[in-house]
Amino acid sequence: MGKLEKKIALITGAGSGIGKAAAKKFADEGALVVVQDFNKASAEEVSSSLSGSGHFALGGDVSNEQEMEDVFSEVEKRCERLDVLVNNAGVSGSPEGLGSITYDSFMRMLAVNMGGTFICTQAALPLMNSGGSIVNLSSIAGLAGWGPVHYASAKGAILGFTRASARELGGLGIRINAVAPGVVETPMTEDLDEALLAPLIMMSPLGRIGQADEIAAAILYLACDDSSFVTGQWISPNGGLVTI
Ligand SMILES: NC(=O)c1ccc[n+]([C@@H]2O[C@H](COP(=O)([O-])OP(=O)(O)OC[C@H]3O[C@@H](n4cnc5c(N)ncnc54)[C@H](O)[C@@H]3O)[C@@H](O)[C@H]2O)c1
Repeated sequence: MGKLEKKIALITGAGSGIGKAAAKKFADEGALVVVQDFNKASAEEVSSSLSGSGHFALGGDVSNEQEMEDVFSEVEKRCERLDVLVNNAGVSGSPEGLGSITYDSFMRMLAVNMGGTFICTQAALPLMNSGGSIVNLSSIAGLAGWGPVHYASAKGAILGFTRASARELGGLGIRINAVAPGVVETPMTEDLDEALLAPLIMMSPLGRIGQADEIAAAILYLACDDSSFVTGQWISPNGGLVTI
């Protein structure tokens, strides 16, 4: 029996990287996975590669309320409920410094990472009327300030959102937690400057960056009943780089 047998799970940004690895793991554990991504073609490709049946792909920008209303209406129409939501879609942007970053690019970073998490969580709640689990993707940028200011601000805000929402949602039987990964090998990090990466690897007790599947394992733990007494918390699979 899989850890997510008969569960319906929606993962945003699941066309690539960590979301894609989580989609595979969830399907292997028996879930019906709704693979959501801005890039509909990659979402469809992931959906059709998953084990089991019933999975489907949906497009849309998580920072656009109307588009997400359409996404969650479609889930309601096809599945009638949602058990697990993973707010994974995110962008990291260019490594601008505080002195040069524009207000527009700062707000865009907040809109996708934090705004998308808010929009999807709010839209999912009416579908979680028999309880559920929500997992939000933060980062060591949000925990410890590693990373550009706009990205760190957005990922830090996700931690505050997770803690405060847990207080409101506990009574509804909905748990909400965050995963705050260290540096992980995905398309998001493939252009990362070697000069930035090498010292991080050197300082990391495990001496390497992470793999998407290692983050998906933490997402699975928080999504399934193994973590039934855990809410408002974060887990940081980061190779020991950040220990707080
Ligand atoms: N890779 C890392 O080192 C790392 C570290 C810490 C946290 N994270 C976080 O993990 C999550 C996944 O990152 P990843 O490394 O797999 O990145 P990725 O770039 O490989 O995948 C992100 C996916 O999100 C989708 N996406 C982007 N903006 C979207 C939007 N507005 N609406 C819908 N979909 C959108 C993209 O199309 C892409 O498929 C992100 O939230 C990221 O910030 C990643």
